[in-house]
Amino acid sequence: MKEELSVLVQAQYPLIYLVTSEEERAEQTIATIAQTKSKRRVYIWTMTHGIVEYGQARTQTQHNTVSPEAAIEWAIRQREPSIFVFKDLHPFADSPAVTRWLRDAIASFKGTEKTIILMSPVQQVPIELEKEVAVLDFPLPDMSELNQVLTNQLDASRTNRRMATETREKLLKAALGLTRDEAEKVYRKAQVTAGRLTEAEVDVVLSEKKQLIRRNGILEYIEEDETIDSVGGLEELKHWLKQRSGAFTERAREYGLPQPKGMLILGVPGCGKSLIAKTTSRLWGLPLLRLDMGRVYDGSMVGRSEANLRNALKTAESISPTILFIDEIDKAFAGSSGSADSDGGTSSRIFGSFLTWMQEKTSPVFVMATANRVERLPGEFLRKGRFDELFFVDLPNPEERKEIFRIHLSKRRRDIARFDLDQLVKVCDGFSGAEIEQALVAAMYEAFAQDREFTQLDIIAAIRATLPLSKTMSEQVTALRDWANQRARPAAASVAEYQRMEF
Ligand SMILES: Nc1ncnc2c1ncn2[C@@H]1O[C@H](COP(=O)(O)OP(=O)(O)OP(=O)(O)O)[C@@H](O)[C@H]1O
Ligand SMILES: [Mg+2]
Repeated sequence: MKEELSVLVQAQYPLIYLVTSEEERAEQTIATIAQTKSKRRVYIWTMTHGIVEYGQARTQTQHNTVSPEAAIEWAIRQREPSIFVFKDLHPFADSPAVTRWLRDAIASFKGTEKTIILMSPVQQVPIELEKEVAVLDFPLPDMSELNQVLTNQLDASRTNRRMATETREKLLKAALGLTRDEAEKVYRKAQVTAGRLTEAEVDVVLSEKKQLIRRNGILEYIEEDETIDSVGGLEELKHWLKQRSGAFTERAREYGLPQPKGMLILGVPGCGKSLIAKTTSRLWGLPLLRLDMGRVYDGSMVGRSEANLRNALKTAESISPTILFIDEIDKAFAGSSGSADSDGGTSSRIFGSFLTWMQEKTSPVFVMATANRVERLPGEFLRKGRFDELFFVDLPNPEERKEIFRIHLSKRRRDIARFDLDQLVKVCDGFSGAEIEQALVAAMYEAFAQDREFTQLDIIAAIRATLPLSKTMSEQVTALRDWANQRARPAAASVAEYQRMEF
């Protein structure tokens, strides 16, 4: 990105929009580019101090440049090669005068070595300028930048400055995804808590990072103890996932394989969609970040929701390779296809930026999305090529139900031989995995209250007392199934494959 910014500046782009919340870091980068590559002066505008040359005291303000209009006019009048950084100009995006002055600046900067950089944590480009501005996302620090932070911390503490390369790498990797300030804090905290920074502190750094990521409220680090074997059935889906467990390695790249982009798991509620998504993290040995789409939306300020999404995706990219888990994506994008857009188009804009990101992303972030209702998903979403695969998880067939019983009985440390699974499987026709589990738990409560061990009959009674979703919502389930039959790949193994498989 730094190269990109540098290229744009050298290519004499008149107007660049830089999205970042790390002002200081971004300013330093700009200053470096200005000094080394293009020999330009750097001026910073804020609405509190007006224009001040970079590196000078805030009192050294250029006369009468506090108003944005005057500041842009001032910039137009300068003759020397310069970069003018305007911090937080976005609240003025609606002002006709500001927009007009910016257009004048663009026109007069052509062929000169002058550039305006609009720097702001939110992307809010006036429509009039959309075609003229190059938008760039300032990325989070990479390993080499974090290495500087770590070195500074080690220097400051005057301890263990010599560190094995591997330890150093682990400490750096653990901090990926943090801003520079955050990384500084985390290293300092680990140092203060343990009195040192060694391999043992990697966990401290990691858990601090998890907390920081949680604090932004949109992404959440998920740790799942279950393995993929705790999911009954869905053999096709499991096979697909297992086949790709090495997909993000260097070896796969050398072999010439593309990086998987993502998958969408559609299906009947309670059949293990979320469960299998979460267990993939262990299967692939990659961190799992859940993106809570509901929290991306923020009506407090125009552009806030987009900024939330950008930040979340940026964090995910900087931690990559990683799995980005978006549960119940149909709920998040429900508003974007209908005409009844009650939120002023926010959800369709969010949806648009998400699709663009999916299309263009080059970093190894695997998107795992789940959904119950296809009719709520915009058509563009389901188009071939967007996801690597679209799987449909149906209600479990008899073999799958048997396995689900096995899994949940074993999980509760019960001897499977005590139960007639074939009979149970027959009684619970039309049940989802979640309903099977619930019936089992209900049977256990019943027996526990009577101070005895539960039996086959308790389970059957609990099953009979349950009205499964497939009955209460039979129309919806049928509709989903019909839709998926044509368009999605079944997650369960086909009958023929079942016969070939050994149980
Ligand atoms: N195939 C299965 N094998 C084992 N357990 C299952 C299976 N399906 C569901 N369960 C049990 O039911 C619970 C709920 O399932 P899960 O949350 O994965 O369903 P879901 O498909 O995501 O449903 P929803 O569409 O309502 O989100 C699981 O945590 C698990 O205990
Ligand atoms: Mg779910």
